[in-house]
Amino acid sequence: MVKKIGILTSGGDAPGMNSTIIGAIKAGISLNKEMYVVYDGYKGLINNHFEKVSKNFIEEKMNVGGTAIKTARLPEFKEESVRQKAVDALKNEGIEALIVIGGDGSYMGAKKLTEMGINCVGLPGTIDNDIASSDYTIGFDTALNTVVNAVDNVRETMTSHNRCGIIEIMGNHCPDLTIFAGIATNADEIFTCDHPLTDKEALYQRMKQAKENGKESFIILVAEKLMDVDQLAKDISQNTPWEARATILGHIQRGGKPSAMERVNSFRMGAYAVELLDKGIGGVCVGIHENKLRYIDIYEALKLSRDKHIDLYQLHDLIK
Ligand code: ADP
Ligand code: F6P
Repeated sequence: MVKKIGILTSGGDAPGMNSTIIGAIKAGISLNKEMYVVYDGYKGLINNHFEKVSKNFIEEKMNVGGTAIKTARLPEFKEESVRQKAVDALKNEGIEALIVIGGDGSYMGAKKLTEMGINCVGLPGTIDNDIASSDYTIGFDTALNTVVNAVDNVRETMTSHNRCGIIEIMGNHCPDLTIFAGIATNADEIFTCDHPLTDKEALYQRMKQAKENGKESFIILVAEKLMDVDQLAKDISQNTPWEARATILGHIQRGGKPSAMERVNSFRMGAYAVELLDKGIGGVCVGIHENKLRYIDIYEALKLSRDKHIDLYQLHDLIK
């Protein structure tokens, strides 16, 4: 039976990672495991940056965003020789199992470590919500609230000046933050990879009509990596009666106090990962599906395609 379990965070940080770590540590110690944190993601495995922790480790940080054990990206981890160094370092410490909190790249690293003799469980840590094996990823709820507050603020100033506000939202090719925020803020237009801007002239016409109807502001949400929002603002200012301004929200979306739901769900996932490792289950990732915790093989998880939320675009057509 596994005695020593390590935890690391990898890839982009996300609010709720600290509650996940706390959940795993509390659950592990209650099962008489020795719990270790690994600093700097996979890099910490190569650099032997381990710390044995007590039940109280970071327990006052449930309400703090980011990750207290740092995170990093290590592209060389795709190489077997680099992963072998990690396996040797873990074995040297006597750590036989690892919890990896990160996105799909981190999951791939976790699966490969499992194949090399270290049982790993992946937990979905990313604000993007782009892991199809879970309805929800750690960080998404908090980031969504941050985006919604920011859009509300932009809406206030745009309304005061009778302007158009264009807001670019993170998500790295996953439009969930944009479409959910679009519904929550009653945005006038939403452009994502699943719902792109294909006809600029038609947009200008809708905007002219909105002005004639006495609309006081016009809010457009755009998923990142889709188009140049500054150029769109210029085009709108030239071709419609609206003066437009673009705002790129950027890394403000990654930080912030985790929401209450974030803390509860991430704590549950952390504790569940320990339960799985204690049963000898590895090479899997955890998700929340219909509000129940579940686990599936990482390769199977990576084959799943994400929900495109067609219903939400249809709903948005009704409210806009
Ligand atoms: P995320 O986990 O958020 O998707 P990345 O794609 O940047 O973020 O992956 C995080 C880290 O996972 C990478 O820096 C690398 O160390 C590791 N990783 C990514 N892909 C692989 C892979 N195919 N094999 C092994 N490790 C990988
Ligand atoms: O994956 C999280 C995320 O914030 C994406 O939404 C964004 O595209 C990317 O990370 C930004 O990465 P970096 O922090 O390296 O600029």
